[in-house]
Amino acid sequence: MTARIFIKLILAVTGVLAVALTSVNLIATPRVRASFLESLQRELTDKAHALELVLPGAAPDFSKLGSAVSGRVTWIEPDGRVLGDSEASPSTMENHAKRPEVAEALAGRVASSLRTSTTVGVEFFYVAVPVNVPRPGSVLRIAVPSSQVDERVRDLRNAVLWATALAFLPAVLLAAYFARYVSNRLGAIIDYTRSLTRGNFHARLENAGTGELGMLSANLNETSEKLQFMMQRLESEHAELEKVERVRKDFVINVSHELRTPLASIQGYTETLLDGAINEPANATKFLNIIRQNTERLTRLTADLLVLSRIELGQQEFTFALKSAAKLLADNVDSMLPLAQRKGISLTMDPVPEEAVVYADAEAVHQILTNLLENAIKYTPDGGVVTVGARPSGDQLEFFVRDSGLGIPQEDLPRLFERFYRVDKARSKALGGTGLGLAIVKHLTRVHRGDVWVESNADKGSTLYFTLSCKEFTPQ
Ligand SMILES: Nc1ncnc2c1ncn2[C@@H]1O[C@H](COP(=O)(O)OP(=O)(O)OP(=O)(O)O)[C@@H](O)[C@H]1O
Ligand SMILES: [Mg+2]
Repeated sequence: MTARIFIKLILAVTGVLAVALTSVNLIATPRVRASFLESLQRELTDKAHALELVLPGAAPDFSKLGSAVSGRVTWIEPDGRVLGDSEASPSTMENHAKRPEVAEALAGRVASSLRTSTTVGVEFFYVAVPVNVPRPGSVLRIAVPSSQVDERVRDLRNAVLWATALAFLPAVLLAAYFARYVSNRLGAIIDYTRSLTRGNFHARLENAGTGELGMLSANLNETSEKLQFMMQRLESEHAELEKVERVRKDFVINVSHELRTPLASIQGYTETLLDGAINEPANATKFLNIIRQNTERLTRLTADLLVLSRIELGQQEFTFALKSAAKLLADNVDSMLPLAQRKGISLTMDPVPEEAVVYADAEAVHQILTNLLENAIKYTPDGGVVTVGARPSGDQLEFFVRDSGLGIPQEDLPRLFERFYRVDKARSKALGGTGLGLAIVKHLTRVHRGDVWVESNADKGSTLYFTLSCKEFTPQ
């Protein structure tokens, strides 16, 4: 393709050269010939006048005169008779009065004509000049063969054509250089577009410049930049979709699993009761208790799932207001005291500034604190310590729930707030946990433009932090 451009450009320049040479030939040659004949007429007229001076009246040696003027010399009387001729004998020559150039010269004007000599049979350019020797009204005619004229015209024309052709040499060289330059750049652009079609959007064309090729390169660069950007976005969207799909599948599997265990238990004990155990008072009470526990578990699970999906879908109603942080904490500590006391756990609250307020939904904050305190008490061995408190942090208040419990291994920390994630599945389950508490906390803090995170060292206990805004904002 690039080679074709090269050849096309060279052909174009050669074409222009051919047209130029033909026009020069067609236009210049007749002009050169005309102007040459004009100057030849002047030259021969001058020679005739010079001869007039040397012609004495007596018959001279005409062949010498002819070679002196490099032409044929004819001397004609006023009545048309030939007095002398450098090429033929006057006695054999007819009266010349009717020859066109002679006729005009006899009338007193210098005249010329281009025609074939009837005497010699060759084409001549004749110039006839009126002279006063041997008597006034005579004519001296000098002629040169037209082949001589043609030869000189040809020489002149060839010189002009050569000059024109030579003038084109730099044009040809320039065209070759330009064609090479264009084909190289186009080659680079073609290679580049080929790599684009293969999906390589990282490459860029260099030396864009400002010409058409430069603009083309710049546009291609911009296009591939956009394509690269779009591909990256598509890839990340695709990855995001895959992640969402994975989470959704995991969620369905988890929910089914969490539902199946208590349902299987309820079904099993119900069948046992129906098979006769209902008539054994001790067993009947025990089995019915198990059935009740599993029903409670199912109720809690479905309630938590409902809360989660309502928050996620934005269907949960919140009533935001400025609330005293100290009061929110104290209320929750009070309601959790019996649970802590049952395990011999000391539940205390660090002093919180009285004036500290948060812009929050009281019910949601209650749910956050209940989940965190429940966890702290649940995952702290008997006789442990649980402390709550809050301190200002910029425009926010940073709450904490610290325990002296089991702690959480580092590798579990990143996934702690995922739905159904439990560090020790068996133990959490035995303690009645479903693994939804912290996921709910995360969603609730987000609704409040806050955050939640954990710091923990296995065996040294855990501290869960969450932030709430102290300033009013427009909830979404
Ligand atoms: N204070 C804590 N100390 C140690 N481990 C904790 C603590 N808080 C949470 N965890 C771990 O994080 C897991 C997830 O907690 P989360 O509250 O989400 O679920 P859960 O307590 O198991 O169940 P529930 O839905 O009833 O709250 C728990 O199973 C537990 O392993
Ligand atoms: Mg919990």
